[in-house]
Amino acid sequence: MTPFIYQSLPTRVVFGWGKLTALAEEIDRLGARRALILTTPEQREMGERIATLLGNRAAGVYAEAVMHVPLEVAQAARAEAARLDADCCVAIGGGSTIGLGKAIAMDSGLPIVAVPTTYAGSEMTPIYGLTENRLKKTGRDPRVLPRTVIYDPQLTVTLPASISACSGMNAMAHAVEALYAEDANPVISLMAEESIRALAEALPAVVRDSYDKQARSQALYGAWLAGICLGSVGMALHHKLCHTLGGTFNLPHAQAHAIVLPHAAHYNHEAARPALQRAARALGGHEAEEVGGLLYALNQKLGIPLALAEIGLPEQGPAETARIACASPYYNPRPFEQAPIEALLTRAWKGQAPA
Ligand SMILES: NC(=O)c1ccc[n+]([C@@H]2O[C@H](COP(=O)([O-])OP(=O)(O)OC[C@H]3O[C@@H](n4cnc5c(N)ncnc54)[C@H](O)[C@@H]3O)[C@@H](O)[C@H]2O)c1
Repeated sequence: MTPFIYQSLPTRVVFGWGKLTALAEEIDRLGARRALILTTPEQREMGERIATLLGNRAAGVYAEAVMHVPLEVAQAARAEAARLDADCCVAIGGGSTIGLGKAIAMDSGLPIVAVPTTYAGSEMTPIYGLTENRLKKTGRDPRVLPRTVIYDPQLTVTLPASISACSGMNAMAHAVEALYAEDANPVISLMAEESIRALAEALPAVVRDSYDKQARSQALYGAWLAGICLGSVGMALHHKLCHTLGGTFNLPHAQAHAIVLPHAAHYNHEAARPALQRAARALGGHEAEEVGGLLYALNQKLGIPLALAEIGLPEQGPAETARIACASPYYNPRPFEQAPIEALLTRAWKGQAPA
């Protein structure tokens, strides 16, 4: 057996339909008394409802979270936390809101209770991002890892089906790349396989009926496992391409992940055969089937846009992304080669199946 290192992350996880009701108890468990509630402007109303439920445990609601955590937003949120004398943050929302909680925690050490309402997975990682002068810097810091995560699938039913599908495929990408990570290990690979299986089964049902309790629960369960994968092992080509597409072309995060994943998996097909055989099995396919094709078919079934052109990538985008990615590559089972990467991105730009 290949030697490995496995380190578990110390987050407490509370999972279940309606479990938002455990929030006050979880804040008490941390010994905190004044929670600053974070949301996006779109989810402010939910934040205010939750503040009312928390009563005097709520120090205030800060509803200014936006994508990619601009430094000035982080600074304003840190000032607000200090002004209100908050002793913990409750981040309710997707990766953008949890990212804002991380920016506060990085600076102040305030513990975070995360209540994710998308499938992005940030709540399970010690990874933070901050954007200054349009440049996003990311890093790892154990202080930003949420202390407690409440997964309440009921909160995800308002996430529109089309966004749920893309967000679910964003989670799927963490699990697929975990299987061939440089530091892959048997425990994370089990979680990755289970995550892919759960997401592949649940997402079509979520798209059919956004209010399907069983499907929503299973999708969030799969996203939790994918988040552990992302927080535990290194990511590869797919994540490098998506970071470049997001950073340079400002493409929407979840949609870009969903479109690129089949193509990145296809690129690694030969070099990561045993890992991708596991992914194929978990996707409900035969071991010998090509994972890129299975993922592309799943995207089609979910009604996800298939072309990067459709979500705003200009025609020169594939060449430019390939060039930037190859200038500072991540580990990948098959080395980064500019021409084939440009070719895969061109197919993704056109919406063609991986080949
Ligand atoms: N640090 C990490 O480990 C990590 C991991 C994954 C993603 N991210 C970051 O997270 C960001 C993307 O996160 P995201 O994809 O979750 O999107 P998001 O947090 O930007 O949310 C997108 C929109 O959906 C709304 N929304 C969220 N949940 C909803 C719900 N249940 N019902 C209705 N509306 C809802 C939000 O208010 C927002 O307007 C990116 O900046 C990405 O880099 C970071």
